[in-house]
Amino acid sequence: MAKAQASQNAQMDAIVALCKRRGFIFQSSEIYGGYNGFFDFGPIGVELKKNIKDAWWQDMVHRRDDIEGLDSSIIMSPKIWEASGHVGGFSDPMVDCKVSKMRYRADQLFFSPVVVDGETIGYVSVLEDGNMEATVQAAAEKMKRKKGVQGELAPIELKDYTEADPSQYELIPSPATGEPGSLTPPRDFNLMFETKVGALSDSTAIAYLRPETAQGIFANYKNVVDTGRVKIPFGIAQIGKAFRNEITPRNFIFRSREFEQMEMEYFIAPDADWKSAHREWIDWCKNWLVSVGLPQEMLGEDVHPQEKLSHYSRGTTDITFQFPFGEQELWGIACRGNFDLTQHQEHSGKSMEIFDEAAKAKYIPHVVEPSLGVDRVLLAILTAAYTEDEIGGEKRSLMKFHPRVAPYKIAVLPLLKNKPELVERARALYGKLQRKFNAFWDASGAIGRRYRRMDEIGTPWCVTIDFDTVEKDGTVTLRDRDTTEQKRVNEEELLAFLDEQLF
Ligand code: GAP
Repeated sequence: MAKAQASQNAQMDAIVALCKRRGFIFQSSEIYGGYNGFFDFGPIGVELKKNIKDAWWQDMVHRRDDIEGLDSSIIMSPKIWEASGHVGGFSDPMVDCKVSKMRYRADQLFFSPVVVDGETIGYVSVLEDGNMEATVQAAAEKMKRKKGVQGELAPIELKDYTEADPSQYELIPSPATGEPGSLTPPRDFNLMFETKVGALSDSTAIAYLRPETAQGIFANYKNVVDTGRVKIPFGIAQIGKAFRNEITPRNFIFRSREFEQMEMEYFIAPDADWKSAHREWIDWCKNWLVSVGLPQEMLGEDVHPQEKLSHYSRGTTDITFQFPFGEQELWGIACRGNFDLTQHQEHSGKSMEIFDEAAKAKYIPHVVEPSLGVDRVLLAILTAAYTEDEIGGEKRSLMKFHPRVAPYKIAVLPLLKNKPELVERARALYGKLQRKFNAFWDASGAIGRRYRRMDEIGTPWCVTIDFDTVEKDGTVTLRDRDTTEQKRVNEEELLAFLDEQLF
């Protein structure tokens, strides 16, 4: 168990290190010691991120006749967040340690009584992770030894801190100090970032950075209906930044405070079979994840139990992914009923009804919402693509990105940089490729090292221009990243091959 955990941690460490070394992702404000929960995407990472968003937009908007795009503002009237329930209810339970000043999410802090021969001798606590049972078991055994208590240790019974009885708050040790007595009772903590808009600095100026893009869609639903030619069922899709003051941002970019969402609201008739629509969208989303390179077997489904559903939801299923730190939510697919539109109708006084020509009926539609974090799916793609192997006795690490999302599709490498005839020929090919794909130019260093550099940033193919190209038949060497196999192709064959692979 501990071994598996160590290797998962090592994999995450290797990915984080590669992301920095190769310019995928940097810690925000690194020169000032970093800023927790915020990240910057470097030259390679920004390409990967853009390709993921483009793939989603192409499939979700361009390739469907029933879905329209939108780009709404990040800061909107605070009335929107009152209507949606975010001002009153978008919170996580938090707990503070009064000694260390650390703050935790109460539902991620687990504890258990340590019971020997039916008597409680103390409590142990742990922060949620894939190995917490083993950690707590070891801590309980240590407590028993330290206190010199004889007898049989009862099985550990983990509960999260929100389930603790108030009489236990004083007895549960803080994960920071290991000592009891410093944890506060759980309190609700609103996750929305506040800002001020306008010249006044009183409470009327308070506005929020949006915590989801979805409300921008609901707030514009009438505009889209009135100006477009949409017919039920139809969807509105949006990609954009969202902000949440997460209590415990963690696992690299998995849970951050500034992130991007790709959300789509699919409006259906109130009497439509929402369960089938939900199922169709779950399947669509899973297929999409596979199309950008996630292995089917790393995906799962987590159906939310009725009592744990969000205030707006009639049914939610998360598509999960096997991250190195455990199986976690990747894509939430929620049936929101007509909660949001009804709320906006009530709060704004504007009708949110649509006239359904086919059914000759007027109603507020219901909605199915697939909501995916760009950064989160990017992390899934990074972890699924990260591979270590050995080529000719030499270790290499490579990113097996699906060509669709690979930051660069192809690298052009003249065999020697001091031979003008090679460089000229290679430059001409590079120019041609650049017009169609994001191509990379690399003329310096030994060819083997250049291949390794491309492997590490996940470039699926390299072409090398050598003396045979200029002196003989014009063919180039086409090298495959995953197999490292090389074959000679002429220019026409190369372009046809790339067209087939990338379009
Ligand atoms: N509009 C519904 C909504 O926002 P959510 O489950 O809170 O639902 C949807 O978020 C998706 O957004 C998640 O499945 C995840 O992919 C992503 N996400 C949410 N919070 C995130 C965070 N703090 N950091 C990165 N991604 C996040």
